Amino acid sequence: MKVLIVEDEIDVADLLQIFISLDFPEAEITIASNGEDALEKINILRSVDFIFSDFNMPKKNGGDLFLEVRKILPTTPFILVTSEDPKKHKQFAGASHFYHIDKPFSDKDVNGRIIQIQSGIKVSPSKSRDYIPIGIETLKRLYKIGTAVYLKISSEKYVKVLHPGTEFNDAEVKRFSDKSIHELYIEKIEFENFIKEFRKTVFSRLAWEKVKQEEKIDILADDIALIGKAARIFGWSPAVVSLAQENISNVINLLKTEPTFSRITDMLKHDKNKKLASHSILLTIMLTEVATRMNWASQGTIEKLTFAAILHDIELDDDLFADKQTLLMAGEIMTLKETAEGNKLLSHPLDGAQLTLNWPMCPSDVDIIIRQHHERPDGRGFPLGLAPFKISPLSAAFIMCEDVIYKSMIDPDCNLKNYFVGQKEYYSREPFKSIYPKLLEIFL
Ligand SMILES: [Fe+2]
Ligand SMILES: [Fe+2]
Repeated sequence: MKVLIVEDEIDVADLLQIFISLDFPEAEITIASNGEDALEKINILRSVDFIFSDFNMPKKNGGDLFLEVRKILPTTPFILVTSEDPKKHKQFAGASHFYHIDKPFSDKDVNGRIIQIQSGIKVSPSKSRDYIPIGIETLKRLYKIGTAVYLKISSEKYVKVLHPGTEFNDAEVKRFSDKSIHELYIEKIEFENFIKEFRKTVFSRLAWEKVKQEEKIDILADDIALIGKAARIFGWSPAVVSLAQENISNVINLLKTEPTFSRITDMLKHDKNKKLASHSILLTIMLTEVATRMNWASQGTIEKLTFAAILHDIELDDDLFADKQTLLMAGEIMTLKETAEGNKLLSHPLDGAQLTLNWPMCPSDVDIIIRQHHERPDGRGFPLGLAPFKISPLSAAFIMCEDVIYKSMIDPDCNLKNYFVGQKEYYSREPFKSIYPKLLEIFL
């Protein structure tokens, strides 16, 4: 099957080519950059089975090209790809073997049209489905992806860019990141399978042992982002709970095998994306260190803190929220109440706590830490604005560690030790007061 694409915008021509190759890998595709170029290419090709053409192009537009093509190829299907109404252009009046695809288009629009023309049947437009965003780095970890992967091209349109079983390697990551695409989509109905596959591939003992220590943290952060999405969609389904438990025990084991804290200040400086997910890992590391220095380091306490660190922001689904949370430290809570996003942020400590209460294996007190993680040492936090003495010691340690992490996020050049020394007065009431020197020791 010979296909000619006539399009002056290279990205659009590329996309058309990718889509057609997905379902018709054997297609021989030629790209022309305008009407004149197309006529030359037709001359060389001699026969063409399908012509996809833009309308507005330099040299010769799609309408004039159509009239010329009809003189030499009277029955070749000519598919005009444009957001304009073809009826507006006189060249197409009474045209036969003529079709139209609206921009932006999906792979189904394009390939559906080819199938329709080939078989003479009508193809109904695809039903709208739900899709879930997945970071391309996460896709790379999976390597071979068992489900189709889509690109979002408008609020309702998704196009298939990878078939199930495709290898997602460095070249794929580059192909998308070069176009500033950092997330692709999978269908919601495939998500649970995707998670199972992720567990099997990434956390199988063999795979996990091969991963470098530094990279483990990134993987666990990716995984938290997945757990968050999954828990919001499915609640604590068995697949989600297994993934979360695996993540938590991996974090605990990771901390046992290496005193990762020595690298904490370096870690605080990297990874500006995935903020929500990676700050959870950093929190776990810091809290483990603080708990040890406070002589709280029983297995049970570490487990509670780890559960809380990983789950506390699970109700927030966007890295934007990580920035908004830092706003709240400046006492700008009330301004957020007016928007849906702001309300979600205000209620995430209660919602997150509720979610863990529905999880039978979650240790006790985790819900308390999550509920209190935005309370403040000066009583001006949310959701309750608790006086400091009503805040539990574990919550207080949690709050202080998270303050340091957020400080490092909004002010990457800050000397954290000087900052923390300057906070002495702010943390001068119990239970913060007794934890403060132990946390300070870490920076000394
Ligand atoms: Fe947080
Ligand atoms: Fe939070």
